Amino acid sequence: MHEQSKEFELTAEEAAALDEIAGALGRFGQERGNLIPILQMVQERLSYLPPRAIELVASHLGMAPCEVYGVATFYNQFRFHPPGRYRIKVCLGTACHVKGGDIILENFERKLGIRDGETTPDREFSIERVACVGCCALAPVTVINETVHGHTAPSKVEGLLLGFQIERERKEREDKKHADGESQDH
Ligand code: FES
Repeated sequence: MHEQSKEFELTAEEAAALDEIAGALGRFGQERGNLIPILQMVQERLSYLPPRAIELVASHLGMAPCEVYGVATFYNQFRFHPPGRYRIKVCLGTACHVKGGDIILENFERKLGIRDGETTPDREFSIERVACVGCCALAPVTVINETVHGHTAPSKVEGLLLGFQIERERKEREDKKHADGESQDH
């Protein structure tokens, strides 16, 4: 079970979505039975349940935030950390598990300094374990965003992360060049 997340600063879009959520809560009655549909609505809009959203929901239903959190952690469908720009899903279905999926997961956790279900503070990477993703012949499998990486040997983890880092640095350089070019045009 996850520990309650330390609070990620909300992005401008998330803060705006939270305002909309506060308005949308009025459509739900204040019975506790509405908790799950409300949490689903919040997660649909924000992709996770930040502490401020949990507080809003709790006050709407007259519950303590820790009670809401306690119920939410009971269901696998809820996330408590924002999805990273690179969303790493490590398959721990049977075929992947017997081929060392848990070691792959551990390697990602160690390299990124976060645990399953968490996100790096810069929101670049998040890790989650998933059940069979349907390509058992490629076990062990890791899915990063939409790309399936088959036969992910533990030694490949570092290379994969390095690849993203290089890509990110290249993009930052390009953005900078672009920005410098624009400022010279003016
Ligand atoms: S168990 Fe991992 S893809 Fe099926």
